[in-house]
Amino acid sequence: MATTQIELNSVSKCYDSNTRALNNIDLNISRGQWATITGPSGSGKTTLLNLIGCLDKPTSGAININESKLNSMNQKELTQFRRENIGLIFQQYHLISYLTALENVMVAQYFFGMVDKDAAIKALENVGLCHRLTHRPSQLSGGEQQRVCIARALINKPNIILADEPTGNLDSKNGQTVMSILKELNDLGHTLVLITHNNEIANQAGRIIEMIDGEILNDSTNTNRN
Ligand SMILES: Nc1ncnc2c1ncn2[C@@H]1O[C@H](COP(=O)(O)OP(=O)(O)O)[C@@H](O)[C@H]1O
Ligand SMILES: [Mg+2]
Repeated sequence: MATTQIELNSVSKCYDSNTRALNNIDLNISRGQWATITGPSGSGKTTLLNLIGCLDKPTSGAININESKLNSMNQKELTQFRRENIGLIFQQYHLISYLTALENVMVAQYFFGMVDKDAAIKALENVGLCHRLTHRPSQLSGGEQQRVCIARALINKPNIILADEPTGNLDSKNGQTVMSILKELNDLGHTLVLITHNNEIANQAGRIIEMIDGEILNDSTNTNRN
């Protein structure tokens, strides 16, 4: 049986007294799984991903990842845990505009305390960008910028990749390129939790979790996997 890697027990998140962004979520995701999260805007998808990504803490409930209890960690320990275990990819690229693709990856390396130019070049080669090393973000297409973000997210070799609408700003061709890279990473054993509004993308995952109003409406194994 597949081992549980991400475990949420009765997790709720309230940003203020009027907003219950997540309501008593119970969820287990196994090592190596690809789970897609879908649902209308405001249903709590990003909140859920941010909690798994140690970017925020739940109001109540417990989250365990790789058998570590996030609740028992302080902010510094959470940041360290994220650095060791999690790669984050967002819809917005958050690249530094005056740095080249290579420098953007190397800045991330710097924050992980492991600057290594050859490794940064290799990371960009792995996402098909060896011919774009010295381009700045404004000189790159949206798809290329997102691929720089993937290279950046992978420098610490995270066992879990969290992607929040990574193709949301891309045309279908660039979206497919980005998805094929994420799929390859999942095939290599990285757990992938991906938020998308795109049914075609959702259907490539082994599992589809549908959210509504901060709750899980549907959680199904995808037998029609493309
Ligand atoms: N930082 C925040 N402060 C206050 N409310 C927030 C914050 N982030 C999200 N929310 C609210 O929480 C709910 C869920 O938001 P979110 O997780 O971003 O949903 P989704 O990603 O599915 O669109 C929404 O009602 C949203 O307005
Ligand atoms: Mg969102």
